[in-house]
Amino acid sequence: MSHLPISPAAPAAPAAQSTSEEASRATWGSRLGFVLAAAGSAVGLGAVWKFPYVVGQHGGGAFLAVYLACVLTLGVALLLAEMTIGRLTGQSITTALRMLSGRGWAWVGRVATFNAFAILSFYVVVGGWTVAYLLRALTGTVLTHDTATLVSEFSAFTANPVASLTSMGAFLGLTALIVAAGVQKGIERAGKWLMPALFLLMLMLIARALTLPGAMAGVAWFLTPDFSVISGGTLLEALGLAFFSLSLGAGMIVVYGSYLPKDARLAGSAVWVATLATLACFLAGLMILPAVFAFGVAPNAGPGLTFITMPAIFAQMPFGHIVAVAFFLLLLFAALTSSVSLFEPVTAFLIDEYQWRRSTAVIAVLVGTFLFGAPAALSFGVWSDVRLFDRTIFDLMDYVTINLLMPAGGLCVAFFVGARIWPKARAVLEGSRAQWFVPLWRVLLLVLTPVAIFGVWYHSL
Ligand code: PHE
Repeated sequence: MSHLPISPAAPAAPAAQSTSEEASRATWGSRLGFVLAAAGSAVGLGAVWKFPYVVGQHGGGAFLAVYLACVLTLGVALLLAEMTIGRLTGQSITTALRMLSGRGWAWVGRVATFNAFAILSFYVVVGGWTVAYLLRALTGTVLTHDTATLVSEFSAFTANPVASLTSMGAFLGLTALIVAAGVQKGIERAGKWLMPALFLLMLMLIARALTLPGAMAGVAWFLTPDFSVISGGTLLEALGLAFFSLSLGAGMIVVYGSYLPKDARLAGSAVWVATLATLACFLAGLMILPAVFAFGVAPNAGPGLTFITMPAIFAQMPFGHIVAVAFFLLLLFAALTSSVSLFEPVTAFLIDEYQWRRSTAVIAVLVGTFLFGAPAALSFGVWSDVRLFDRTIFDLMDYVTINLLMPAGGLCVAFFVGARIWPKARAVLEGSRAQWFVPLWRVLLLVLTPVAIFGVWYHSL
């Protein structure tokens, strides 16, 4: 069995054998738990930090349109495919693929697991920024609408090796503590309140952002597609972001799917997870991009965009100080539920494949991530001149893992489910209301996914 203690399905099993009324309630409850757990992994820094700045770099509305097209087609198809693998085996990805199809496929699982580790290594850098900004919000030192100050403070902080490594270490330590203590149950329960709270707070901040003078230019820019700005690079970023924001292509959803009870509706769950993750991205865009225009920040300012514009919004609000604390706290929480979901499969892999003790595995992943992530953190400062293929270390890690390895993992999963184990996969949806989707699902997996991924790679590489 997989070791991930996030196990919304577990309590459902005994109830399912009691009265039918209880059974249906338990199934619903566990499906909600599953959707929230998977959405907790999906909704994180990808939506609130990455999405707005990548939209900013890639021309607004047109990027949004391509991103949505990716999510609605191959995003949903691959979510369902990964859930199916998990549900068929009840295992994490490497073991699952080996079980279904022999040794040869296990290496796909290994690469996906390595990818989760590599993503975690730069994810914790940004997680560290969240910790640092939360502390600044607590001490009230971030609130100013002078964006020049905010930009220079952000650069000074990320360039400072001690500050960035300590905050990264703090975030990584929190992640490891949660995984080691196995308190995910608590985190998951809290998630039922905190994720809706994050959505509500974003709505409130959107209301403030939209009423800033000059904000409407940002809204128009975000919502009006101008397809002439689309290049191969834009398509690649949109594709990668679709994978990243849905937590696809790294074996994550397989693990979550392995906890689903037999009668949960997979297709509906996939649609729900995709909807929540996309909604989070959309709301984050609507919160940040209008403010970018209102405060005269350059939309292509890069990875600091969220951290530069949000304090300026808080500075213009009543009780801005409290709102700032609430915002960074909720963002930290959303980031932690995602980083735990990256940390845990790597730990489980070491335990399953090499029979390591859990505590040893957690320490190994902790140390490994710190060492692998430190160069990414330093590439905002002392190592900013180290460039490979014209990118900083951070950008290169981000690019290779999100734009290359995640889609590659997705391609393998699509082929695996659509061809290699298709009769079994189809049987999983038998008797569900989503029957009509089955043939379309196969076309999405075997035709659209490869065409889209190879097409985008061909255009951009
Ligand atoms: N989807 C997460 C986010 O948007 C990141 C993530 C990717 C988590 C892959 C798990 C696996 O923040």
